[in-house]
Amino acid sequence: MIRHDDRIRIDVRVAPDELRRQLREDVRRGLTEQPKRLAAKWHYDEAGSRLFDEITRQPEYYPTGREREILTARVDEIAELSRAETLIELGSGTGEKTRLLLTALARAGGLRRFVPFDVSEEVLRESAVAILEAYPGIEICGIVGDFEHHLDGLPLAGRALAAFLGGTIGNLRRPERSRLLAALADSLGEGDLVLLGADLVKPRERLEAAYNDAGGVSSRFTLNLLAVLNRELGADFNPSRVRHHAVWDEAEECMDIGVVSLSAQRVTIADLGIAVEFAEGEKLHTEISAKFRAEGLTAELTAAGFDPVRFWTDAAGEFSLSLWSAG
Ligand code: SAH
Ligand code: AVI
Repeated sequence: MIRHDDRIRIDVRVAPDELRRQLREDVRRGLTEQPKRLAAKWHYDEAGSRLFDEITRQPEYYPTGREREILTARVDEIAELSRAETLIELGSGTGEKTRLLLTALARAGGLRRFVPFDVSEEVLRESAVAILEAYPGIEICGIVGDFEHHLDGLPLAGRALAAFLGGTIGNLRRPERSRLLAALADSLGEGDLVLLGADLVKPRERLEAAYNDAGGVSSRFTLNLLAVLNRELGADFNPSRVRHHAVWDEAEECMDIGVVSLSAQRVTIADLGIAVEFAEGEKLHTEISAKFRAEGLTAELTAAGFDPVRFWTDAAGEFSLSLWSAG
């Protein structure tokens, strides 16, 4: 634990060196298997985090606005039901929507501690300071970590509410989701609540527009991942020789996002001492964004040991926010 200030502590569970080691391993494995794929978490260096924020402001990208609509309507009910003293947020990012929760929990009394949890250290530190300025009465125990590996020993003080917003759960595949939910259930105390934001299955046109915005921000977000590999691993991806590609996979009910090679090409990754061949039209899968149905979510959460408490959608029925209780 590093003490920054009386009221902000940041526990770095994945140091930059360790993250680099994992990146090397993931890239070596992901680029040498068929189909080629990488984990979505590598998008979020500082530039990637800012680009994601810019995506949330694009007119076609509906999830953030829809989730905010539900939160605004339900936040007092959530605060009342949870009476949480600790708010944890997985994949907290810049923490914009979190403020709605913090305000309501502070109003309901009791809120003592905020635990933002994110793999992106710069963004986490920045948002911790901004949140403390806005809520000087609480303490912040941030965790720089990977929510797929570091959910044990969460710093919980009293009753807890764990928020996992934005639809980020959909960036994990089903087995990864079930491991994460089981680890979260283990870490929470009996009766603690989980607040889950999950995007819902909807027509292909609406989904594909959200991940191919006319302003080209989604494309810049995807291509930034290649810039991360060039910078961190000495790769020589040329962004003008690939294009962003995001399509709805009907069978898997997920957006399948990545880059497609515009020609046959060889990319070298100097730090790994490997060269990777891409055929013309071959896709490097960089992210999935699974979309859910109420029944599927209930099955996944109950399998992990959670009981349903509330399930809401926005007026248009596009996005869901749900509350679950740890058994
Ligand atoms: N919750 C915010 C931000 C969503 S963007 C919102 O709803 O708008 C996804 C966030 O999850 C990013 O801040 C990213 O850094 C973080 N993230 C992605 N994979 C992660 C992982 N494996 N462990 C921890 N944080 C992760
Ligand atoms: C963070 N996550 C929920 C976003 C999503 O919609 O799956 C990431 C994203 N990727 C491209 N656009 C947005």
